[in-house]
Amino acid sequence: MPKIVKQLTTSTVAIAILSCLVSIATGTTIAYSKQDVSLPYKDRAAIKLGQTIYKDNCASCHGINLEGQIGWQTEIVDGRRLAPPHDETGHTWHHPDELLYNMTKYGFEEMLGKKYPNNMPVYEDILSDGELLAVLGYIKSTWPEKIKAIHNEINQSYASNKNS
Ligand code: HEC
Repeated sequence: MPKIVKQLTTSTVAIAILSCLVSIATGTTIAYSKQDVSLPYKDRAAIKLGQTIYKDNCASCHGINLEGQIGWQTEIVDGRRLAPPHDETGHTWHHPDELLYNMTKYGFEEMLGKKYPNNMPVYEDILSDGELLAVLGYIKSTWPEKIKAIHNEINQSYASNKNS
């Protein structure tokens, strides 16, 4: 396949997965989607704690500089995707706070409600709620101001859809 077509196909797939996850998360049948969470990305103490948690728990896959695994956009290893970056080159910032929190806490299979073999650990029994918020808050704190502002808008539109 020509490179450009391949890139296009991959990004279309990524967008399809993204919108699928978002629509599942907004479904009222998922009890934990009722949790209101807000990432503490301006809270210095939380960011500091989150950075340590990130180094200890996430950096081995997502990269010490949040750069993700090489080939994450295209490569599939044993039927599983590689870890995407958490910096602005990835798609973490495309998801509202609540979705990031639920994905990390309960895992992809729980979010999707079906089998989806993947390499992302489930942190429900590993990190406390405060630690989960801190690590995700740390990730957000590293984004450029422009991306933070877009992410705040994503949160707002997610909240208004949820409450409508
Ligand atoms: C063993 C490797 C591994 C570790 C450790 C790991 N992850 Fe992941 N993570 C992944 C993979 C692989 C994916 C993509 C899964 C897929 O799409 O199939 C992922 C996806 C994610 C996503 C979704 C990103 C998006 O844009 O859809 C979030 C959020 C995330 N990880 C957060 C974390 C956090 C926070 C930690 C540490 C507390 C962590 N991960 C630790 C492998 C890992």
